Amino acid sequence: MTDGRIMVTGADGYLGRHLVRHLLTHTDHPLLLWVRAATAAEAEAKCAPLLRDLPGAAGRVRCTGGDLSGDDPFGAVVPDDLGAIVHTAAVTSFTVEQDVAQRVNTEGTARLLDLARRSPRLRSVCLLSSLYATGLQAGPIMELPAPVPSAGFANAYERSKWAAEAYAFGQTDLPVSVLRVATVLADDATGRAGQHNAVHNTLRLLRLGMLALMPGLPDTPVYLTTAELVARAAAAAVSRAETGVFHVADRAADSLTLARTLDVAFEVFGADPGFARRRVARPEYADLHSYRLLADSARGFGASVLGQALTSLLPFAAQLYVGKDVGNERLRALLPGYRPLDAAALLGATCRQLLADSRSPNVRR
Ligand SMILES: NC(=O)c1ccc[n+]([C@@H]2O[C@H](COP(=O)([O-])OP(=O)(O)OC[C@H]3O[C@@H](n4cnc5c(N)ncnc54)[C@H](OP(=O)(O)O)[C@@H]3O)[C@@H](O)[C@H]2O)c1
Repeated sequence: MTDGRIMVTGADGYLGRHLVRHLLTHTDHPLLLWVRAATAAEAEAKCAPLLRDLPGAAGRVRCTGGDLSGDDPFGAVVPDDLGAIVHTAAVTSFTVEQDVAQRVNTEGTARLLDLARRSPRLRSVCLLSSLYATGLQAGPIMELPAPVPSAGFANAYERSKWAAEAYAFGQTDLPVSVLRVATVLADDATGRAGQHNAVHNTLRLLRLGMLALMPGLPDTPVYLTTAELVARAAAAAVSRAETGVFHVADRAADSLTLARTLDVAFEVFGADPGFARRRVARPEYADLHSYRLLADSARGFGASVLGQALTSLLPFAAQLYVGKDVGNERLRALLPGYRPLDAAALLGATCRQLLADSRSPNVRR
């Protein structure tokens, strides 16, 4: 078992916030929250909202910060009492430039592992990675270090996460676990999403009837998870000082396909009178080459709404043709009593939430 202080990087990010709340409510560990900050005062100010509705939390928590793109991001951290680290901080945009992704995600992870090596009481380092760190690799994806995918990567974000994993697994003197996380669709089974990502954007375009073409193949599995599950898995990995890879994802048999994802979205949106009135047609599947050509030519029309809709899917479109068959035996052993998510129910709840948000004057549509 890990004892000592647990450091969470990216503590104010989407998954970082969920993890901090989980650790404060389900464990007694003192925490060190690390955020992107130039000064101690800025770090305190960024951490304060995280503790606002958790009585007694402030006494267990210290805050500090730095910048992963700097030379010494963890210079303000005193390593003496660190028992574990969960590294969630990363640049997560699919359109990030290669050099920024490399600097923040790959070299930033290397600097974090330097800190781990300097921490005398450290029992565990857990890195948050992505299922798509395995790039465009199709077929069985095991909970093991991944070779560089011969098919390449869909974007620089994926590449930087693969390189961070590869670097970490080379540090055989350190107790490293890697959580390869599926796309986080919602906070939990309610379908509420505290942060929107590429999937929510795609669902929003479908609801607005702005996707006449869909990149991808109908049978491609769509791997979804919740922030709650990621937090549980990360907490379990550090408390048990686990090492190796865990997939925070359900198996293909328990996941939706792309076609079923569209079915569920259309079922929910179809119950909305506004959507029904607009007689929104289901998008046609396009091959990747045609989709890219069309998106490129739409870009030529400037910032048209159609062009923006088409190009917004481009940075991850290639993944929608890749049939990954992910294993999760190690995750199931990590979380006793684990049951697969009801992916259709989760997606349905999220779509209903998106519809409700679209009717609310205070929520971005
Ligand atoms: N959410 C998902 O669907 C998903 C899926 C698979 C994997 N993951 C992985 O899970 C982790 C957390 O993702 P998330 O969704 O919580 O992301 P997020 O909400 O974008 O949070 C990222 C955190 O990293 C910080 N950060 C970014 N650049 C930084 C820099 N240069 N220096 C210091 N801090 C920096 C951000 O601070 P600022 O706010 O100041 O930028 C933020 O606190 C990431 O490693 C991501 O790759 C997420």
